[in-house]
Amino acid sequence: MEISNNIESEYSSTVSFEHRKKYAQFFTPIEIADIMAEWLLGNNALSKVLEPAFGLGVFSRILLSKKPHLSITGYDIDDAIYEKASNAFKDSRCINLILEDYISNDNNWDEKYDGIICNPPYFKFHDYDNKCLIPKVNQKLGTRLNLHTNLYALFLLKSIHQLKRNGRCAYIVPSEFLNSDYGVNIKSYLVQSKKLRHIIVFNFKENVFDDALTTSAIILCANDEFADTIAFSHINDATGFGRIKEIVSSYPNTKYSDFTYDSKDIHADVKWKSYYAPTEVPNFKSLVPFTAYAKVMRGIATGANEYFSFNLSKARNTGIDMANMQPCICHSTDVRGLCFTPDDFNTLLNSNKNVYILNPINKQDKKLNAYISEGEKQKINQRHLTSKRIPWYSMEKRAPSPIWANVFNRNGLRFVRNETPTMNLTTFHCIYVNNNLFGVDADLLFAYLISDTAKTFFSTSGREYGNGLNKFEPNDLNKSLMLDIGSLSEAQKERLRSIYQQNKKNDDLSYICEIDSILIDNFSN
Ligand SMILES: C[S@@+](CC[C@H](N)C(=O)[O-])C[C@H]1O[C@@H](n2cnc3c(N)ncnc32)[C@H](O)[C@@H]1O
Repeated sequence: MEISNNIESEYSSTVSFEHRKKYAQFFTPIEIADIMAEWLLGNNALSKVLEPAFGLGVFSRILLSKKPHLSITGYDIDDAIYEKASNAFKDSRCINLILEDYISNDNNWDEKYDGIICNPPYFKFHDYDNKCLIPKVNQKLGTRLNLHTNLYALFLLKSIHQLKRNGRCAYIVPSEFLNSDYGVNIKSYLVQSKKLRHIIVFNFKENVFDDALTTSAIILCANDEFADTIAFSHINDATGFGRIKEIVSSYPNTKYSDFTYDSKDIHADVKWKSYYAPTEVPNFKSLVPFTAYAKVMRGIATGANEYFSFNLSKARNTGIDMANMQPCICHSTDVRGLCFTPDDFNTLLNSNKNVYILNPINKQDKKLNAYISEGEKQKINQRHLTSKRIPWYSMEKRAPSPIWANVFNRNGLRFVRNETPTMNLTTFHCIYVNNNLFGVDADLLFAYLISDTAKTFFSTSGREYGNGLNKFEPNDLNKSLMLDIGSLSEAQKERLRSIYQQNKKNDDLSYICEIDSILIDNFSN
């Protein structure tokens, strides 16, 4: 019988989106479930199976259609879906459904399985009892997961622990942890357990799950003797499913996967993007850490942007002394082009964009005091960030930064040279130049940053969100490498600065080629 997602579609059309979101009920498409089931079925001894987040049992339907005498235990926490699933499987003797939280259950840790298959709930730390559950998992597994760990990681690690000899486990999870700081401890467990075999990353333009904004990865683990290698593959669109299924079924032969590495060459503390999408490693000499010449910090977090930011009309209407206003960019979309000049600031000001934030200096200002009282009436002083400040309306101290980096971007990093004393909210990161070390000033650094050569160093740094959106954290940049532009001759440094100065308002970006050719001539091996 053809297996389909009909039961999931019917459920989704009858249950409110809020209910599904509350329990993270985003169902696995058949093609993906099929690949994951294939992995479990590769264990010839497959008999005892666990589905830790059962939902409507898509994995069990596929497994039973290929191996009818399995004994499957399923957990789900939601009464409504449990009832529907129990009804769907009422004629099957193979399924034992348990209405319980898989992670809180302390008694099942030593229960071992031949196969574990799961699309776990993706809850952030504030959406579940992280303070109780994470220490418990750490104690059981000897891990050091921090309190910000997403629930899906607890599911994954617990399941890996529950594998019998030759047991196999297939999970589909968001791929973000592969490249983020909080993922390091999770990756560390995967490597140290010696059970990680293959990671298949989805690099879809559309989302894999219709209504969950996420890019995903299938994690395949096995408790067998083939611990020497770890494979990585990716799927770029639906046409790749057949190929991946073949790769999965050819295990332990990994030569068809996109990349195979010696397990000892896989390190938890690097971004795993460099394993599954190794861009051509730039073949350059004289590399230095980014922090040799600059430091990246996040912009100002006000805790209540709508209260603290001002446009010209609001500033006039409140009558607050302008000495209490600090020029500040509140939205990166207000800044177009490569450089931001005093003229650009005035254009924004005159078109009534928010270009100031409140920075109370003149406490004698009656209008300021009235505005502060109004903020207290609106309980702005009780918000998360403001409640921690003394006084609550004080602003973070930051010097205006000469270069801004866009935090979220679709096309890699975007840099802006800020030629004004304007500050920035978190919409941009601030890049501060280290004391003109070896003549590397803001113009020179900026000319380097906008080159295609610099981009190759940043391309593996960002974290992926759904829809091709990349997010860069300050440390993604601080921890990357760059060319040692301080070692260029004075004449070359001057040329780079002047290429920027002469073209800074030029819409035709072809001058960037000249920057690249200077860099390539000097640094390529
Ligand atoms: C992402 S859905 C996956 C459902 C199904 N396995 C699939 O792949 O289509 C996650 C399921 O886990 C259930 N769930 C959420 N938290 C849970 C928990 N702590 N323990 C067990 N199940 C949980 C939800 O009700 C939901 O049915």
